[in-house]
Amino acid sequence: MPRADIVVYNIGELVTFSEGPLARVSVERAGLLRDAGVAIRDGVFVAVGRSGDVRFRFEGFQVNAEGLMASPGLVDPHTHLVFSGSREDEFELKLSGVSYSEILARGGGIYRTVRATRSSSFEELLSRASRILRLMLEHGTTVVEVKSGYSLDLEGEIRMLEVARRLGGLEPVLVIPTLLAHVPPLEYRGRELDYARWFSENLVAEVARRKLAVYVDVFCDRGAFGVEESRIILEAGLRMGLRARLHADQLSYIGCSKLAGELQLDSVDHLERMPGENARILAGRGVVATLLPTSILAMMDPARPPVKALREAGVTIAVGSDYNPNNMTPLQQTAMDISTYILGLTPLEALAAATVNAAKSLNIHDRVGAVKEGYRADLVVWDMENYKWIGYTWGYNKTRVVIAGGRIVKGG
Ligand code: NIG
Ligand code: FE
Repeated sequence: MPRADIVVYNIGELVTFSEGPLARVSVERAGLLRDAGVAIRDGVFVAVGRSGDVRFRFEGFQVNAEGLMASPGLVDPHTHLVFSGSREDEFELKLSGVSYSEILARGGGIYRTVRATRSSSFEELLSRASRILRLMLEHGTTVVEVKSGYSLDLEGEIRMLEVARRLGGLEPVLVIPTLLAHVPPLEYRGRELDYARWFSENLVAEVARRKLAVYVDVFCDRGAFGVEESRIILEAGLRMGLRARLHADQLSYIGCSKLAGELQLDSVDHLERMPGENARILAGRGVVATLLPTSILAMMDPARPPVKALREAGVTIAVGSDYNPNNMTPLQQTAMDISTYILGLTPLEALAAATVNAAKSLNIHDRVGAVKEGYRADLVVWDMENYKWIGYTWGYNKTRVVIAGGRIVKGG
């Protein structure tokens, strides 16, 4: 009998997403299997099929899913996991009606986290981030994108990316590191273009040369980087072999999502203020829209991404946690659940957005984000009878079993 490391059997409903990323999500295309089982060897799925077949075909450690629902592990395509300090008093300020933009313009917000991050040691940054990473993993996140962006200078940004790299070695989570041009330093006020050039010629070049990041990203918005500066940084990254993604249209509309379409980025994120007509540009260029429901709540602002227009245009929608000191919830599970309420996604759309579509947003959908032979063995068995419980129940940890990169990290 062939050997497997793990056999999971008696899965009541397995959502495989074996057809890959979906712009139009339907039950017919989600690759649903009833009474299913999977076998895992050397970190990848080696069989996906009927419970009885898989169970008796492979020898290996057996996990009984007790008739529950299972899905690919959650892929979180947008986090600011590495930082220091906290901003709970800004939370109170926002509740009293002071806007995020105002706090940022006063030198708080991101600038405040930059001060805290710069004065922390590598070990402090690593130990804080690794505690949160463990929490993410126990809640079903098996792949996580991690941005820099809280140092703004050469040494500090590189240090953040080195922390991200170390994180990937601590847990069986796949970490995708991103160099983020977050805001121009205060001393560059009025000379933002100079900073964008400096950032491109020095930071982007060094990070690309040392392969410290997969992605380059820019916070493109009023109060951060304009379209022209964003273009300089993104084009530099693309030229030097990085892939690119963008924070766009979150606080205001200055044309950032259009730029994302023009440059055919892998993903454009936030989009709370994107005009609906831009959806067609994104669809035509194959750009994933990564929406961040918990971050929308943290902004305390009624703006919402144009989900209906995105859907109608056939844009692939992903969801992320956007964990950061302004939005202190690290759980992709929560982002997925409440995307039903905040964005109006259906439970199945939410699940696709948090797994296979999120993998597309990170351009790893050829090996991650689906339950399929040869794919990275990331699997969650949920304390839910079927996918329709996504959003319907939320606010507690619903993972029963978490398998990441072929290793059981919870349950079993
Ligand atoms: O994705 N929008 C910019 N960046 C973060 C917020 C970072 C912060 O406030 O520290 C975001 O929401
Ligand atoms: Fe962000």
